[in-house]
Amino acid sequence: MATTTTSHSFFYDLLSIMRTVTEQEHELFLQTYKRLPVEIDRAEGMYVYANDGRRYLDFLGGIAVNAAGHSHPRIVHAVVDQMNRYAHVSNFFYQDAQVNFVEKLTRLSRYDRAFLCNSGTEATDGALKLVRRWGSVRQKSEVIAFTGGFHGRGYGALSIMDKPKYKEGMGPFLSGTKVLPFNDLDRLAESVNGATAAVFIEFLQGEGGVRWANPEFVQLLEHLRKKFGFLIVADEVQGGGGRTGTFFSFEHFNVHPDIVTTAKVIGGGLPLGAILTTEDLAEVFDYGRHGTTFGGNAVACAAGSALLDLIEEGLMEQVKVSGSHLIARLKELAAEFPERIADVRGAGAMVGIELKEEAAPIVEQLLSKLIIANATNETVIRLLPPYIFEGEHVERLIDALREIFTW
Ligand SMILES: Cc1ncc(COP(=O)(O)O)c(C=O)c1O
Repeated sequence: MATTTTSHSFFYDLLSIMRTVTEQEHELFLQTYKRLPVEIDRAEGMYVYANDGRRYLDFLGGIAVNAAGHSHPRIVHAVVDQMNRYAHVSNFFYQDAQVNFVEKLTRLSRYDRAFLCNSGTEATDGALKLVRRWGSVRQKSEVIAFTGGFHGRGYGALSIMDKPKYKEGMGPFLSGTKVLPFNDLDRLAESVNGATAAVFIEFLQGEGGVRWANPEFVQLLEHLRKKFGFLIVADEVQGGGGRTGTFFSFEHFNVHPDIVTTAKVIGGGLPLGAILTTEDLAEVFDYGRHGTTFGGNAVACAAGSALLDLIEEGLMEQVKVSGSHLIARLKELAAEFPERIADVRGAGAMVGIELKEEAAPIVEQLLSKLIIANATNETVIRLLPPYIFEGEHVERLIDALREIFTW
């Protein structure tokens, strides 16, 4: 019997060896992703290595995840150490790995309390439950969000997004939600009232094209919060974790949101998300109100702790300086090619190059020059590199873009 199983699996192993990873993916997976034509071997620092031996410069960072660069030795070490102790025991237990991580996260974020989950979508969903429960005893249930915002792919997140592409044919969604035009002062002022439970906002929109909230818009939001007493929920899943040179992107404004959702960077490359809030709101989620099997997994927390140590040791200051340099060089390039580049915006390791044409073909050409970037919102090249990028990486990107725009 054992022999049959062995030869059977050997036969299939042989078959799979004869087909490429790409071919197998096409056969085995629901085709939800448009993957880049690169089969990954390994990744280190600023570089991703493909099976065919090519080395790509990574200006995508696993979609805003790998802040310390790929395979950072301190993170690898922390993960291996934790795996050797245990991988998962569940939230039935007290765990130093979780406490160490949250102690650092609350210190860096200056929030009092955390709920740990696995992803940005889950953080959005949990935050929606938190605000709805908070509002339930105050006759407040309406949730407002903004066009261009991205909060994830679950029903909670989709209910506060306007993206037809992601929502078509999937309704009905949560009731009592409204999506207003981003940065529209009048629409905001006329839409919030005593029934508003919360306003969800990305102060620096990622998917929406690396677009900042206007300072007057944030000021008005703050004024309306004081007047009507709703909660501000900052989605810092993409713009947080030190990415813009401050721990959260909202720190570029004079505002202190009541709740923050975060994920991506904070797990150091492993799935980890968090809802952060103040002591005042902590009691809204009492025993049994919310939970998850894997949220705050010990290995993810160990990786996240190691990453937060690196941030506390100066990674965030480093990205602030490198980001200013990257933006300055891109603005010079924009001055060279005013017919191609409309705008350069963002901060730190979150930079958008708004083109006067579709961004996808340019991103494709960058890939053929062994540089990984991303196109978002049709005309925007989005750069989300690890925070460790330096002048030489910036110059490679600038040279490649110059070549593309020259031909
Ligand atoms: C701002 C923002 N919120 C939420 C999410 C969803 O996060 P996840 O993909 O981890 O569910 C994303 C993902 O890109 C995001 O950029």
